[in-house]
Amino acid sequence: MTDSDVDVVAEIEGRAYPFPWGRELFADCLCAGYRSVLCTIDGTAIGYGIMIVAAGECHILNVCIDPGFQRLGLGRRLMVRLLKQAKQEGADRAFLEVRPTNTGALKLYHRLGFQRIGVRVGYYPARPGREDAVVLSCSL
Ligand SMILES: CC(C)(COP(=O)(O)OP(=O)(O)OC[C@H]1O[C@@H](n2cnc3c(N)ncnc32)[C@H](O)[C@@H]1OP(=O)(O)O)[C@@H](O)C(=O)NCCC(=O)NCCS
Repeated sequence: MTDSDVDVVAEIEGRAYPFPWGRELFADCLCAGYRSVLCTIDGTAIGYGIMIVAAGECHILNVCIDPGFQRLGLGRRLMVRLLKQAKQEGADRAFLEVRPTNTGALKLYHRLGFQRIGVRVGYYPARPGREDAVVLSCSL
């Protein structure tokens, strides 16, 4: 992902999440040097992943496939791609947060070997109020 992809990525984000990241947050991630992957089909962006790799750990910050392209195996391929890169860069463990109500993502992560290690109380905005995050981890 480059700066020129941020607008289309923010559009996908807006379609995929009830509480989407703003485009500035994506731009900040790129500026900070976080690892990013853009998924394309015939040159059209249909998903992306962003992660931090540091100190032997990987933190997956965002994984998203455009709603029109979900359930085609692309999210799984994207995750495998991210985790492979993290391992190549020296990470031996990956972490991520997910809403407990996001059952599709939870199933994907469990299938990839992630296990629940904790909960962050009130981590996400929700309607109404806040929603906890389940913290998952996986050995690479
Ligand atoms: C979560 C997400 C990335 C999955 O991407 P995807 O391309 O749809 O997932 P895949 O087709 O690779 O699915 C792989 C497996 O994950 C599970 N899965 C994924 N989405 C699912 C859903 N909606 N319901 C049930 N299981 C699901 C299934 O086990 C699936 O395997 P199967 O199709 O053989 O049953 C995608 O739904 C998405 O972008 N959602 C919106 C953003 C989001 O919630 N991101 C995660 C934040 S933590």
